[in-house]
Amino acid sequence: MSGPSDHWQTYHRRWSGLEAPLRPNSEIRARIVDLVGSGSDRVLLLGVTPELALSFENVVAVDKSAAMIANIWPGDGAKRRAIQADWLELDGSLGRFTAAIGDGSGNVLSHPGEIRQLLLTVREHLEPGGRFVCRLYARPEKPWSWQELLDEAAGRATVNFHAFKWKIAMRIAADGGAAVPVTRIHEQFERHFPDREKLAAVTGWDRSVIDMIDTYRGSSAVYCFPTRAEFLDCLPSGFRGIGFHPSGTYDLAEDCPIFACEKA
Ligand SMILES: C[S@@+](CC[C@H](N)C(=O)[O-])C[C@H]1O[C@@H](n2cnc3c(N)ncnc32)[C@H](O)[C@@H]1O
Repeated sequence: MSGPSDHWQTYHRRWSGLEAPLRPNSEIRARIVDLVGSGSDRVLLLGVTPELALSFENVVAVDKSAAMIANIWPGDGAKRRAIQADWLELDGSLGRFTAAIGDGSGNVLSHPGEIRQLLLTVREHLEPGGRFVCRLYARPEKPWSWQELLDEAAGRATVNFHAFKWKIAMRIAADGGAAVPVTRIHEQFERHFPDREKLAAVTGWDRSVIDMIDTYRGSSAVYCFPTRAEFLDCLPSGFRGIGFHPSGTYDLAEDCPIFACEKA
């Protein structure tokens, strides 16, 4: 769920400063390619993630943000193009695909309604046997308490700031439901960690990376951080070979599995 004032209009400015878990690294990319398999000749990319766009020969990328397409998309080619559209409003006119892929695409929607709609759209756009492969930020059944997060930030950091930010978001989701307006991530961070200078000094996180959380201030976007079970509850019938697969060894990788299934 998002509107004219969501943060995707400016998010591209931060892109080069992102790292896993927010942005796919080479191990995530390789695992997604592996799970899609070699037989895929027409791939629907949910978003404009360049690492994924460049991993397949024949790609149609769909993203609702003109700014993300203009600044992140590696460019159209003979067999690669980006279309500006909302995933939830696709009408089938793009035809059928042998795979649909994404990186966190199921997390930038509200839960459960928009997730269900996305999964229905994916099913509609896949050929029988087509694979859906998408990394998911999946909240653990028992996420860290606020006290554990405060304790973690009181010493030298053991994970990067983006991973820590997702731990905060997952805590918020555990408190109030999987759908999390991104403004709430910003508010709760400010509330629990008001002194950014001190936070940077103690943890070793770069102040400019911490400040990236301001991207969420005033944004209308809603993210979601479902548990694996909550995500599966949104999956319509008509899929088989359903599973969550490890996505690598980076910070928070254990809570960022790759969801994969196949249209029956
Ligand atoms: C693929 S997602 C996740 C990217 C990254 N892994 C992260 O966690 O920040 C980001 C992209 O989804 C796009 N997006 C979000 N909601 C959308 C929707 N309903 N329809 C089409 N694109 C959407 C945004 O414009 C953005 O380019």
